[in-house]
Amino acid sequence: MGLIRSVVLLQVIIIILLTAKASTPPMAKPGCRSGCGDVIIPYPFGTGGDCNITEEFFITCNTSFTPNKPFLTNSNIEVLDISLDGQLRILGSTSHDCYNASGYREWFDLWLQLSEFSISSNKNKFTAIGCDTYARVEGFLGQRYATGCLSLCNNITDVSNGSCSGIGCCQTSIPKGVRSYNITLESYDSHVAVLPENPCSFAFVAENDNYTFSSSDIRGFGFRDRMFPITLDWKIGITSCNEAKSDTTNFACKENSNCVDSESNSGYFCKCFEGYEGNPYLSGGCQDINECETTDPCNATATCLNLPGTYNCSCPVGYEGDGRKTGTGCSLPDTNRSNRSPLIDVALGTSIGFLGLILGILLLYWMLRQRKINKLREEYFQQNGGILLRDQLSTRQGYREDVKIFAAEELENATNNYHESRILGQGGQGTVYKGTLADNRVVAIKKSIIGDPSQVEQFINEIMVLCQVNHRNVVKLLGCCLETQVPLLVYEYITNGTLFHHLHNEDVASYLPWDTRLRIATETAEALAYLHSAASVPIVHRDIKLANILLDDNYTAKVSDFGASRLIPSDEAQITTIVQGTFGYLDPEYMHTSLLTEKSDVYSFGVVLIELLTGQKVVCFKRSEEKRVLAMYFVSLMKEDRLLEILDPRVVNDGNVEQLKEVAALARRCVRVKGEERPTMKEVAHELAGMQAMPKHPWSGSKLVGEEAEYLLGDLINTYNDGATSSSMGYDSINNKITFELDGAR
Ligand SMILES: *[C@@H]1O[C@H](CO)[C@@H](O)[C@H](O)[C@H]1NC(C)=O
Ligand SMILES: *[C@@H]1O[C@H](CO)[C@@H](O)[C@H](O)[C@H]1NC(C)=O
Ligand SMILES: *[C@@H]1O[C@H](CO)[C@@H](O)[C@H](O)[C@H]1NC(C)=O
Ligand SMILES: *[C@@H]1O[C@H](CO)[C@@H](O)[C@H](O)[C@H]1NC(C)=O
Ligand SMILES: *[C@@H]1O[C@H](CO)[C@@H](O)[C@H](O)[C@H]1NC(C)=O
Ligand SMILES: *[C@@H]1O[C@H](CO)[C@@H](O)[C@H](O)[C@H]1NC(C)=O
Ligand SMILES: *[C@@H]1O[C@H](CO)[C@@H](O)[C@H](O)[C@H]1NC(C)=O
Ligand SMILES: *[C@@H]1O[C@H](CO)[C@@H](O)[C@H](O)[C@H]1NC(C)=O
Ligand SMILES: *[C@@H]1O[C@H](CO)[C@@H](O)[C@H](O)[C@H]1NC(C)=O
Ligand SMILES: *[C@@H]1O[C@H](CO)[C@@H](O)[C@H](O)[C@H]1NC(C)=O
Repeated sequence: MGLIRSVVLLQVIIIILLTAKASTPPMAKPGCRSGCGDVIIPYPFGTGGDCNITEEFFITCNTSFTPNKPFLTNSNIEVLDISLDGQLRILGSTSHDCYNASGYREWFDLWLQLSEFSISSNKNKFTAIGCDTYARVEGFLGQRYATGCLSLCNNITDVSNGSCSGIGCCQTSIPKGVRSYNITLESYDSHVAVLPENPCSFAFVAENDNYTFSSSDIRGFGFRDRMFPITLDWKIGITSCNEAKSDTTNFACKENSNCVDSESNSGYFCKCFEGYEGNPYLSGGCQDINECETTDPCNATATCLNLPGTYNCSCPVGYEGDGRKTGTGCSLPDTNRSNRSPLIDVALGTSIGFLGLILGILLLYWMLRQRKINKLREEYFQQNGGILLRDQLSTRQGYREDVKIFAAEELENATNNYHESRILGQGGQGTVYKGTLADNRVVAIKKSIIGDPSQVEQFINEIMVLCQVNHRNVVKLLGCCLETQVPLLVYEYITNGTLFHHLHNEDVASYLPWDTRLRIATETAEALAYLHSAASVPIVHRDIKLANILLDDNYTAKVSDFGASRLIPSDEAQITTIVQGTFGYLDPEYMHTSLLTEKSDVYSFGVVLIELLTGQKVVCFKRSEEKRVLAMYFVSLMKEDRLLEILDPRVVNDGNVEQLKEVAALARRCVRVKGEERPTMKEVAHELAGMQAMPKHPWSGSKLVGEEAEYLLGDLINTYNDGATSSSMGYDSINNKITFELDGAR
């Protein structure tokens, strides 16, 4: 009796287990390990043999851990989670760089190599922690790329929890498609000034919200062995769906699934049809969802019928309706109208009244909705600094009146809804799209980075700067739009690309002769001189570099990208900003003392001149260490009187070598370490204009155009300068945001 009972019980249990099993489709190939420790390993991943689709999808399950731990291929990279949506989470380690009071250094630079999978650029961030910390992440992305950030603090009490904006902690994003990287940490001063509170710098890549900065992380060594989760993107192969489909034997998507091209335009992944669930990479993997059991979509009186990929609700005989809970349900049909009683008339009247009421409610709903949309736009307008802008515009005079505020739809139509094919470029502050307005004007539209409140100020800043500027060598702002979630700026479209492109792109560089380079330099100098002295409030651009000088069809220079620029009102002695700029162009004095003056632009412009003279890049890893930073290398060669070695051979000829020397001497003065020893932008512009006007005269030696010209022009220059140099000092909190621009990677 007892035996029979337990057999029956066992059978019941087995049946329950079997049905339970049947309702969760298999994830691994038959005969393969379905998991390792707590991690499920779905095909195309597997633990060897035919269990993984290719070698890249191989997972080592190390059984000497309890629970067992999975690792990516044969590496020591631990896998946390594999999702069939094309993502994979791994654990990454931390780089460190530690010092003690006797200057002893102990460090670890992380090198992470992922064979096929790339770091998801929107799910992860690069973070560095420390008070004397310069962190770099470098790798290959087809070409070499590098990015990084700077974190400094004078006193450990300055840091605030949760804020990674350059004081004690800094963050930057990771570009798309990165498969391997090195994290390197350096310090300026071996942490001497911040010991013993901050002995170490740390840097790591982690999922966006996984790490929150805490001031206690600055203090100890505790971080060294911390690991952080990183999300990777995976995909099958390197071909698109269309190409992959034609190779039927190797096509990875099985029945009842769709093929989806990966975002990176190489490779694809598979997705079960709607109404199916399971593993689309396995034959029989996508199984029909029994909606009648799982979601119970039908009205209680209706019968639910599960169908492949869908379901059907049917009402009992004599009833009407679609049978769905969310639809019309099941109800008895109306009584015959032809023999209706007065009572039915009343009912009819009531229902017509009811119908009217419903229409009224709908109308009201529509109006409320419309109001909500308007409110949202108004909110965005406020959030995007619309109010700030309106205030700013009303308090300042001298701004251009023709700056237009665009409606959101206008710009959506102009850019084909911000289609990817319209992207012109992506920079630190946003994405630039090409658009065509309704009146056929071609414009460039800059969309700043989503939802970052710190960008709002920069954005308003850029509008304020450009509203005050009207110069033929400065890109013209046509208007802006504040009604969208992310603020938008509309510029005139400059047709011919950046100076960087013309100088450093091998195909076109030879077409930029010296005369053109000199003219571009003169125009840029004039634009900067105008910004510094002629505009109603002095403006420091702060990010002068080749990539921010655009060229039109006649190779006329147009200075752009005013996101970092500052207005320095002459009645304010100090302003607080963030140290910003591009590595290689950044004024060393400004970096060191944090005092912002127009002379920082002079330095950056000097670097631009050097680039025009030499045709070389500002920072280049192909050059040996001491030659890496162009400005320093250039100055050291000039000191040894070896200038000719570095001049761009494409522009040097017998006729212009004297002029090149003059420009080189000018460039050298621009990049002097002490700001006060550099010439003003006005002087630079005058000298360059002078050289352009009398080219290649044997007697136009450096003397006349140099010191003597300065003397002759002295009065004029002084009137322009008066007040500008002395009053426009600004103080920067040591809170840094520096872009590294290497080997043309942007
Ligand atoms: C799975 O990975 C292992 C280890 O790299 C490899 O030997 C095997 O060939 C892979 N399977 C397939 C089908 O490529
Ligand atoms: C598993 O992990 C242990 C401890 O880290 C290591 O010694 C061993 O080599 C690993 N085994 C395999 C197969 O990787
Ligand atoms: C710094 O570390 C080195 C190596 O561990 C050690 O020899 C030295 O005594 C340390 N100095 C101080 C001041 O702790
Ligand atoms: C990372 O560093 C290692 C060793 O220092 C070096 O061999 C490798 O080429 C570097 N990788 C990248 C992507 O820079
Ligand atoms: C840091 O700030 C604290 C409080 O503001 C002060 O007591 C301390 O002397 C400062 N330390 C340094 C090194 O300036
Ligand atoms: C960060 O990720 C690790 C590993 O997945 C997890 O244990 C930890 O709870 C996460 N922390 C936060 C704050 O999300
Ligand atoms: C930051 O948080 C840590 C731990 O949560 C706490 O010990 C520390 O006092 C906090 N620091 C500040 C500046 O609030
Ligand atoms: C679903 O049921 C309706 C009747 O309720 C029937 O007309 C229709 O053909 C059914 N659909 C399918 C796909 O069977
Ligand atoms: C089924 O439909 C009828 C008519 O639309 C409705 O009165 C009834 O409440 C519905 N029943 C359920 C359980 O939704
Ligand atoms: C409805 O009325 C018409 C005309 O009076 C009649 O022919 C029909 O049979 C009636 N139908 C029902 C269901 O009563």
